[in-house]
Amino acid sequence: MSKLSVIGCGYLGAVHAASMAEVGHQVVGIDTDADKVALLSAGKSPFYEPGFDELLRRNVESGRLTFSTDFAAAADADVHFIGVGTPQRRDGQGADLTYVHAATDALLAVLPDHPENPSLVAGKSTVPVGTAAVLADKFAAKGAIVAWNPEFLREGFAVDDTLRPDRLVYGLPADPAQAELAEAKLDEAYAKILSGETYEGLDWSETPKVVTDYATAELVKVAANSFLATKISFINAMAEICDATGGNVTTLAEAIGYDDRIGKKFLRAGVGFGGGCLPKDIRAFQARVDELGLDDTLDFLSDIDAVNVRQRSRVVAKLADALGGSVEGKTIAVLGAAFKPDSDDIRDSPAVDVARQLAAAGADVRVTDPKAGPVVARFADDLNFVDSIDDAVTGVDAVAVLTEWKQFQQLDAAKVAELATGRIVVDGRNCLDRGNWESAGFTYLAMGR
Ligand code: UDX
Repeated sequence: MSKLSVIGCGYLGAVHAASMAEVGHQVVGIDTDADKVALLSAGKSPFYEPGFDELLRRNVESGRLTFSTDFAAAADADVHFIGVGTPQRRDGQGADLTYVHAATDALLAVLPDHPENPSLVAGKSTVPVGTAAVLADKFAAKGAIVAWNPEFLREGFAVDDTLRPDRLVYGLPADPAQAELAEAKLDEAYAKILSGETYEGLDWSETPKVVTDYATAELVKVAANSFLATKISFINAMAEICDATGGNVTTLAEAIGYDDRIGKKFLRAGVGFGGGCLPKDIRAFQARVDELGLDDTLDFLSDIDAVNVRQRSRVVAKLADALGGSVEGKTIAVLGAAFKPDSDDIRDSPAVDVARQLAAAGADVRVTDPKAGPVVARFADDLNFVDSIDDAVTGVDAVAVLTEWKQFQQLDAAKVAELATGRIVVDGRNCLDRGNWESAGFTYLAMGR
């Protein structure tokens, strides 16, 4: 058992902290947000994530997991995981490293000076390549070692992805003695996960481990997210072509996906990607390679971004077309606010963006979402949020499904027809049963099919 700290308790840090406690370590989570720390300390999740409440409660009750706003509580940990956010800068495309520097400065201030057993600072945040080396210099002043250990968890699957990741990546220092020490400490922290013993009674296989340098480890994360974003925008571009030619993008994706060099995953066309990672990561990656003087290398990511953002206005245009040329004065139900189902995260959510575009064009928009209500009230209070699907669809001219929650997929279109005034549905996630809606009298519009 190690003593671990996790600095930053958002979607990434809080789940990592609880998962590390679950595999037997003593863990303290540090966050500067006192409200969040109070909630977590009481075993209550500040956000919606399937399976997390239970994991959190169990580990807080066992005493293995504590939270604090005071960095001093982390001072004696063997490994400090850095899981703070790296959002897009307000004044540009690059990553804002304010929280990384604030967190590491605060940690540095409480670390003991050159102890016999140096502690390890393991960065999990998504950062521009070159950041780990800068932090390593900073921590050398106290004799602490830095490793980069990117996190690949998906919201909605965060607990599983943390306890049973596809792979672990260790970016280690160039100095062989330091690298050996860093690898040993990470191996100890991840022992159960590496061996696949995370879930008792189930036959998990070992987790692959990739050991590399700082730069590669930092790049793995942004390269993975850029590749995923590229897949989604590729299929959305195909959807545009299908719309123009009468093709069906769902069938197209299925057919190309049988080629296992291509694969079927991440080829769901729709209103595009959002969330706290993909959009800002592809922008930050471009900004970083521009800084490195490789100006043209990632130009294609601008197109990926443009295709993605265009899907949002395509939904608005489809609604305008169907409503006689304009959405002005029309009442529209937007089903979905979260950037994807099984999450209450609305950061860069296509659904929220479309709702705002519709409102800006003069529509009366009602938004509903099974989980994101409180987050909308806090961060998007310009939206007219209603608590139930019935309230959202009553009397509307059109319905737009923009997050593929099960509740929306399973809607009985005949019941919606009893409440709605108009008979137009836009399936922004290609997730509805067309027959169900058409037989209830709706004009069914989708994205490329
Ligand atoms: C992503 C990466 O998947 C994860 O590995 C990384 O650690 C963080 O960023 P996440 O942001 O939780 O995870 O969401 P993800 O499941 O990747 O979905 C991103 C967006 O793409 C969502 O808005 C989703 O709706 C959209 N998407 C996904 C599609 O539009 N089509 C698809 O086929 C798949």
